[in-house]
Amino acid sequence: MSMCADGRKYPLTVLQLCIANVLVTFVSSQTCSVVDPNVLPSTSEMTVFSSPGYNAGTGTYSADMDCFWLIDSGAADLKLLIFMTYDTSCPGDKIFIYDGNANTDTALANGVCGTPSAPTPYSTTQRYARVEMVSDSNVEKSGFQIDVIAAKDYSGTGCTATQSITATSSYQMLTSPNFPDKYPSNSNCRWALTSPDGYLEIDVIVSDVEDDDPTSCDYDKYLIYDGANKCDNNNIKMICSEYPKVTSYSNNSTESTVTVTLESDGSVNRRGFLLRFRSVSTATTTTPTTTTVTTAFISAISSTTARTTNGQLLEMNMELLVGVVFGSLLLISFTIITVVVVVKKVSMPLEKTITPVQPYRPRPQPPEVQPRPRRSNGSTQRPSLPNGHKTQAAGIGTTRIVSAW
Ligand SMILES: *[C@@H]1O[C@H](CO)[C@@H](O)[C@H](O)[C@H]1NC(C)=O
Ligand SMILES: *[C@@H]1O[C@H](CO)[C@@H](O)[C@H](O)[C@H]1NC(C)=O
Repeated sequence: MSMCADGRKYPLTVLQLCIANVLVTFVSSQTCSVVDPNVLPSTSEMTVFSSPGYNAGTGTYSADMDCFWLIDSGAADLKLLIFMTYDTSCPGDKIFIYDGNANTDTALANGVCGTPSAPTPYSTTQRYARVEMVSDSNVEKSGFQIDVIAAKDYSGTGCTATQSITATSSYQMLTSPNFPDKYPSNSNCRWALTSPDGYLEIDVIVSDVEDDDPTSCDYDKYLIYDGANKCDNNNIKMICSEYPKVTSYSNNSTESTVTVTLESDGSVNRRGFLLRFRSVSTATTTTPTTTTVTTAFISAISSTTARTTNGQLLEMNMELLVGVVFGSLLLISFTIITVVVVVKKVSMPLEKTITPVQPYRPRPQPPEVQPRPRRSNGSTQRPSLPNGHKTQAAGIGTTRIVSAW
């Protein structure tokens, strides 16, 4: 064993690679900077990034690469849930994921290589993850794709007794227990989400439950019921699929309460679910001003329109009425002004209406505005990413760490 510059221990063959990279730093930094080295994931959708040249799994990485990326959830209480898809050539091309921002932190993925059949989940215990990839000079494959979301446990007390949560017009989160880590065995959780305004919007953001026949879900499952009861006839969604099979699901309730449950058996636990919900009003949304004005108009002018039960139609008629009345007022005013002006003009002597022409004087030109020089941020093009995912924005407000070898 020998030591590289960064203090990690390498076997002799890797040590040679390490030295080579130190000597040709600019080459490796160019290779690595294809992907922004800092990733700030979202809390409400998966952020995707991939190794240089990945090209949705059809490309290849470079030989002799040694790169790292830092993922930062953005807050101390937000952890990271990572699903990694990869295809590397063993044993020389390896990926490491550290639970922290240094390669001395615990390795969640300790030099994995090969081609797993499904994305592998990892979760951190704090805000950072450091991802490293090394390759040798032999066969190159496509590399890795990481789907990552910043997350925390929003399960509350729903796994000890039914927890009632009142929804607001802003989104609130709900997760399985321990999220983004695994839900426990023999979980039996229940949440009653209630809308004070009419009904609820439910958006499932992440689903990762032990895979099973989706029509029966005999092992682990979570369910969404339209109503306060937990019956087959109001069950609107049952999920028992591993990520990314049910990546998103959205629906609105017809009842003012939605019941969410999670049931797990004694073995094979996954990451569970993350969903968000908010209260949505059944009434047509109008601004308070419009409502006041139009209501007054309705009672004063048109009793027929006011009796309309359809909110949308009512609003349209009210707007039409306001338009007609204001339009008429404007037209009357305009006519009066025109008549007054015409009468005045006719009564004036002709020569007084002719104004003398001013001699032409060129206006002074304003000084030419120089375009502001654009600050180069040194970022380069990123590989294209699949639809339905948020692509990583260049690390806003974070220190950019460029290759350090
Ligand atoms: C649910 O309701 C909201 C607000 O009315 C709407 O924006 C959204 O599209 C609806 N979602 C579905 C899945 O119908
Ligand atoms: C959406 O919810 C309604 C009840 O609110 C249900 O009847 C319908 O099947 C649901 N749609 C989907 C796609 O789950």
